[in-house]
Amino acid sequence: MSRYLDPRHASLVPYTPGEQPKDRKFIKLNTNESPFPPSPKVLEAISRQQVESLKLYSDPDARMLTGAIAKHYGLKESQVVAGNGSDEILAFAFLAFGGSKGAVFPEISYGFYPVFAQLLGVSYRAVPLKEDFSIDIEDYLTPGENVVIANPNAPTGLLLGHAEIETILRAHPDDVVLIDEAYVDFGSESAVSLLPRYENLLIVQTFSKSRSLAGGRVGFALGSPALIADLQAIRYSFNPYNLGRLPQLAGAAAMEDEEYFRRCTRRIAATRERVKVALNQLGCVQTDSRANFLFVKLPGVPGAEAQAKLRAKGILVRRFDKPAIADYLRVTVGSDEEMDAFLAAVREIIEEANS
Ligand SMILES: Cc1ncc(COP(=O)(O)O)c(C=O)c1O
Repeated sequence: MSRYLDPRHASLVPYTPGEQPKDRKFIKLNTNESPFPPSPKVLEAISRQQVESLKLYSDPDARMLTGAIAKHYGLKESQVVAGNGSDEILAFAFLAFGGSKGAVFPEISYGFYPVFAQLLGVSYRAVPLKEDFSIDIEDYLTPGENVVIANPNAPTGLLLGHAEIETILRAHPDDVVLIDEAYVDFGSESAVSLLPRYENLLIVQTFSKSRSLAGGRVGFALGSPALIADLQAIRYSFNPYNLGRLPQLAGAAAMEDEEYFRRCTRRIAATRERVKVALNQLGCVQTDSRANFLFVKLPGVPGAEAQAKLRAKGILVRRFDKPAIADYLRVTVGSDEEMDAFLAAVREIIEEANS
């Protein structure tokens, strides 16, 4: 830390992204990327002429992209704002609505929420999950604080039903309820159908997982025109050209290729279910994840050891060093071949540990 850093940030604990290895080839199941390439329509959209146009600024309103998103969800364009990954949208939301009011979110959830809160001076309450890792909605019904819930939650993969989300929304008529749907496309239903009834509902989604564009950095929020206008004001006060030309084109093309999107997400969900069965047969403990990852504990193998042994076998997975979940691994659902290699490695590790 330099002596110039504002003392406000002295205790900031930055978010730690998952490893992006450069030195050797791993089976990479640690950052919930898609095993499939982006839609072929993305490549078609990025022509030589589009590359030459990079000399010009991008559209600050990303109209082609927000138009495609609005059309996909049957919303007005004034109900959509796009960002440089959903991380940026989340930051805008903490900045716009957090302030003195503060936020409540699960203690075990996306690790960026407390980082944004700290960075942006938003007070927060982090609520423990129940023993089975589910969310007790009773903890989220106190009016006067904004609510942030990832649904499905990360890294547990567990889903909250729409009836429960509605109970939270009704308890918070004067607060924002942000539902982070980064993982909703793998067999769950978006809360977008609740938007006409709840002006306090803000839904955040990403192109990073289900649309194979993690490196494109495209995310978005859906909400009432008033909430979206607030986020637009923040965005225009921070970085109006927050999305480059190429990510805008890539995002629009990916959103329009409905068939490819369905094919990829269905395959990932099918692979996830197949791997769950195999892990159960190996005696693993796991959640009923509805995301593009599994959350799993190997029998008789501490989490850190399991992660290190998988790494030695060329497989990267993610682990979080929090007491309740330290023995669990978060394993991205990769291709069928990658998951077969993962299962073979897990079998060996369990046999070794229990022999
Ligand atoms: C719950 C959740 N929300 C948001 C994000 C951010 O995604 P991105 O910034 O790539 O859109 C992630 C990424 O892993 C996530 O797990």
